[in-house]
Amino acid sequence: MDCCNNKIIIAIDGYSSSGKSTFARRIAARLGYIFIDTGAMYRAVTLYALENNAVDADGTVDKDRLIGMLDDIKITFRFNSERGASDVYVNGENVEGRIRSIAVSNLVSKVSSIPEVREKLVAIQQELGRDRGVVMDGRDIGTVVFPDAELKIFLTADPAVRAKRRYDELSAKGERVSYEEIERNVRDRDRADETREISPLRKAADAVVLDNSHMTLDEQMEWVMQRVEEKISRQ
Ligand code: DC
Repeated sequence: MDCCNNKIIIAIDGYSSSGKSTFARRIAARLGYIFIDTGAMYRAVTLYALENNAVDADGTVDKDRLIGMLDDIKITFRFNSERGASDVYVNGENVEGRIRSIAVSNLVSKVSSIPEVREKLVAIQQELGRDRGVVMDGRDIGTVVFPDAELKIFLTADPAVRAKRRYDELSAKGERVSYEEIERNVRDRDRADETREISPLRKAADAVVLDNSHMTLDEQMEWVMQRVEEKISRQ
């Protein structure tokens, strides 16, 4: 398969902790494409807002302050060869290790529902995919960011399976959280993502659904590579 001419955009949307980023990263590595985790961008803005008093830990958002700060936030990615993935940076500082805490997870839905925040991040995402050859994961990639993406996947899994995955990920990093708290966060974010006014999480009409509750990553790769080959051969 000729992977590097005829480059396409692969949009992966879906519920939180459905394994979008791991899947997207693996597809990008296989194709030699760029991988962009757009959730990391919303998390990075949330962390910045938290550290600069535009949001407090109990969830109160000072919208005007946050909107006023947006021009000061420069988000970039840099490849980390140890992790085999790109880390996200805010104003030159690597924040990858801090954006997945439960504190950020609890606030990110609020921050990502602010239209000005979305406008800024969507513009950066569109620029990153300008030359195609990108796998981007998020909530609105197939519907808003790249409605013309050649391949759109809507990834889902049972909420209990997703909560267990997030719990294992945080426990492995040594963060002390209860499974119940994680499950609540997963369900709350599903609801917030699906019901927000601007760019809610929904399946694009032309997206294919993949429920990976009982699939290994290798099985998901086999499933997706067939579709990728079909799309690329039609370019
Ligand atoms: O993929 P994630 O769980 O790291 O995303 C964190 C949050 O960011 C998620 O709760 C919703 C928001 N998000 C969004 O609104 N739009 C995107 N394209 C990606 C993430």
